[in-house]
Amino acid sequence: MHRDVLEDDVAQRRGILHGHMHEEVVLACHVKGLDHAGRRHDRVEQLPDPLASVSTETHADDSLQRKTEGCRVDEDADAGQHPANAEGANAVCAGRLRDAEFFGERFVGPAGRADHGRENPQVELIEGGCRALLFSQVRLLNGRLGLLSSAQFDQVIADFTIAPNPCRTFLHTRGMDHLDTLAVHAGRADFASLGVHTPPLDLSSTYPLPDVERGGDSYEALATGGTPIPGGSHVYARLWNPTVSRFEEALATLEAAEASVAFASGMAALTAAIVSHTVSIGHPHVVAVRPLYGGSDHMLASGLLGTQATFCGPDEVGAALRPETGLVIVETPANPTLELVDIAAVVAQANDVPVLVDNTFATPVLQQPLAHGATMSLHSATKYLGGHGDVVGGVIACGAESAAALRRVRAITGGILHPLGAYLLHRGLPTLPLRMRAQQETAAKIARRLLEHDAIAEVFYPGLHGDPTGLLARQQHGTGAMVSLRLRGGYDAAARVAASTRLFTHAVSLGGVDSLIQHPAALTHRPVAPEARPDADILRLSIGLEHVDDLFDDLRQALALTRDGKSTATTVH
Ligand SMILES: Cc1ncc(COP(=O)(O)O)c(C=O)c1O
Repeated sequence: MHRDVLEDDVAQRRGILHGHMHEEVVLACHVKGLDHAGRRHDRVEQLPDPLASVSTETHADDSLQRKTEGCRVDEDADAGQHPANAEGANAVCAGRLRDAEFFGERFVGPAGRADHGRENPQVELIEGGCRALLFSQVRLLNGRLGLLSSAQFDQVIADFTIAPNPCRTFLHTRGMDHLDTLAVHAGRADFASLGVHTPPLDLSSTYPLPDVERGGDSYEALATGGTPIPGGSHVYARLWNPTVSRFEEALATLEAAEASVAFASGMAALTAAIVSHTVSIGHPHVVAVRPLYGGSDHMLASGLLGTQATFCGPDEVGAALRPETGLVIVETPANPTLELVDIAAVVAQANDVPVLVDNTFATPVLQQPLAHGATMSLHSATKYLGGHGDVVGGVIACGAESAAALRRVRAITGGILHPLGAYLLHRGLPTLPLRMRAQQETAAKIARRLLEHDAIAEVFYPGLHGDPTGLLARQQHGTGAMVSLRLRGGYDAAARVAASTRLFTHAVSLGGVDSLIQHPAALTHRPVAPEARPDADILRLSIGLEHVDDLFDDLRQALALTRDGKSTATTVH
């Protein structure tokens, strides 16, 4: 981190805050007595008076040297035993200065503080006093403050910073006011220090351990859902991988979430969400709003994970809750009929029960479920996030607490995303907003043209008949790139069309640059109970980046076959 990035005053930083980023400015002074610094919303009250607790030798200017002199660390036995503390507190400070020079650390200005967490729970800002330090080193520590030489000090600081997006994201994304820009740059904060320009692909299955003690501590931290400890190791690729971690940070930034956790597939992600939030904490009941992706529906209906599920409509969530309900699951737009579900209304009914939203169809470009009160936003990253049909993955954006629970299950069950998948997903993110908008524009035109077609009984597409629920205005900022159709000719016509397109590939999945067509009842929703399965006359289209006229001509020629009874295409128009 270059120093000039840190030269902005706090007010400037505050000025560029918006829905896509969070800020955490941490007051760190003398840390004695802060063993339990508390959680984000109560820690302001728990902070000691910085002026009362720092060394009297501190000088109230912003030179790094004086700042270092001013820092004083508890000189207890633990701190002294740390290798980096061989020379006592001064050595700790000296070590910090080296880190500080490289990573950026400075005074945050005159005494005073502002806590904006009260107005906006996603933004918490504490301005430190003149002897406080603003640490930005978190960027190399995966969301935790550190890089201080004293393990004891590190621990206190780490406890201190259960942060929404950590400083690194904020500082790195300084000046990025639009999702398009964030999509290009998020998760890349360490590139400059690594001397690289594109995401490094780390395929290591194991990682060197600094020594047995810190190796063990690292293992303990990662296996229980934590993040790497300062001066520790990533230990083993099932626990942590830097390429995966960068993608996670990028996705969390786009979802305006504290964190995200990536998995080998969307279903692995859903499995971890269910296990971590239900059976493992003694709340085995799940309320699931139908319709859901067939695989999700099947997972819940089967009870395979030890859950009991109540399926219901969006307005029946409150009534379906039980004392042992651990999770509410909803998908919007619904699959495959593309109705929008009001996330905030579901959250309100769910009371304190966490709500997971499958955000696969909308992507963070159109919808950020956490902003509407959801606890987790799940993606089959296989779809739009990847966008090129060459990676299977899943990811959940969420708060720090859920992320730790998810990582713990991931470590135990081995569901982590492969680094090559993470690399491809991270590579695809910069074009996500562009792809979404282009695919959406074409989808909207296709949907309107299909409305006029006499072989079509019904077109399912958000916004086609206005915005009666107001959700396009307040929740999903776009109509998306999925279109479903009901064929007048029933199942036979649907099957014929699916088998007859030339440009649309007849295949499951969605969200890629090439258009796909599939029959939900026979395929993606096959395992769903008959009463909840999509009708047999429905087809689902995933619109890609081809020209709208070419796509529509392809559909038209396939639809024409439903009239003359031929099963394969013979003409183009
Ligand atoms: C909406 C939705 N959620 C979840 C999944 C499961 O994701 P994956 O296939 O990556 O396991 C899918 C897969 O099609 C999906 O469409």
